[in-house]
Amino acid sequence: MATKRFPGFIDVHVHLREPGATQKEDFYTGSRAAIAGGVTFVIDMPNNPTPTVSIERLDEKVALAKKAICDIGFHYGTNGKNADTFAEAASRPEVFGLKLYCNHTTGEMLIEDPKLLETVFAAWPPGKPILVHAEGPQLDMAIALADKHGQRLHVCHITQASEVEAVRKAKAAGRSVTAGVCPHHLFMTEKDREEKKGYATMKPPLGTLEDQAALWAGLVDGTVDIVETDHAPHTKEEKEKDPPAFGVPGLETSLGLMLKAVADGSITEERVVEAMHTLPRKIFNIPEQPDTYVELDPDAPYTAGKDGYESKCGWSPFTGWELYGKPMKVVLRGKTLLEDGKIIA
Ligand code: NCD
Ligand code: ZN
Ligand code: ZN
Repeated sequence: MATKRFPGFIDVHVHLREPGATQKEDFYTGSRAAIAGGVTFVIDMPNNPTPTVSIERLDEKVALAKKAICDIGFHYGTNGKNADTFAEAASRPEVFGLKLYCNHTTGEMLIEDPKLLETVFAAWPPGKPILVHAEGPQLDMAIALADKHGQRLHVCHITQASEVEAVRKAKAAGRSVTAGVCPHHLFMTEKDREEKKGYATMKPPLGTLEDQAALWAGLVDGTVDIVETDHAPHTKEEKEKDPPAFGVPGLETSLGLMLKAVADGSITEERVVEAMHTLPRKIFNIPEQPDTYVELDPDAPYTAGKDGYESKCGWSPFTGWELYGKPMKVVLRGKTLLEDGKIIA
């Protein structure tokens, strides 16, 4: 066993809940969770209670995020009626993509009207990707619209075997499509939901064993490009309600789970680094973070949640699991933020 140095990991899909839902998370606690998990750059989603669909809301978020201890970018949001702000939003260096919700989930940003969807794909200045929450048939529609309007499409939290197939086909046809998979879909199935109930409830929901196998095959062969956590914290109270809030936290367990898969021989360490650093950086054109690294022993097991969590929600569906490679040191642009496994920032 030996400590190794890795680049700072990147998570392009997190919900840090500020402003509007800081009972679940805020930029400070969410960014501490990122650093604890070896993640030095996150991109925050726009589905706040007051969604990030105007330049005013974007500016407000950028200002609030100054308290984050990791680097942070933002995806702009759309309700289909803010196309007049797209050019300005897309020109901002803090903005890395446009997020579009084609299915019901947390937040009030669902666009179902195909005409409105088409407006969005036509209006976004091509360059920075359009990210979609699109399940099943909605995904086929998004792939077709992106192709028609010359947009780069990123498929968030891919879940079903048929969706992996749809992305494989689109890539083979030369379309500009990338996809991300979440650790919870890689490591759990619908069976876990019976047991963990609200704590394993999220959108898209956990799939079958067949879906899970297709996600692993797709990630290993590169059809699925990256790992993204969809870090979506909710309070225990919100998860124990009927129906529970959708979403699970992921920042503090994603790397440990992926390195567990390396230890099990399910994936190579090189592919994990590519899926959690190199490709996210390339797909979203994320600037280099000089003098930034994470030190850990990839062969060293540890128990998830043994020392609690940095995320304000204070739980994880993976508590008690044996993970691998807990970050021991994290340096971001020359500044040590985590030492001996503890945040010192
Ligand atoms: C996310 C959230 O809570 O913001 N929930 C989820 O179940 N994944 C929204 C989303 O990514 O769909
Ligand atoms: Zn989603
Ligand atoms: Zn999400």
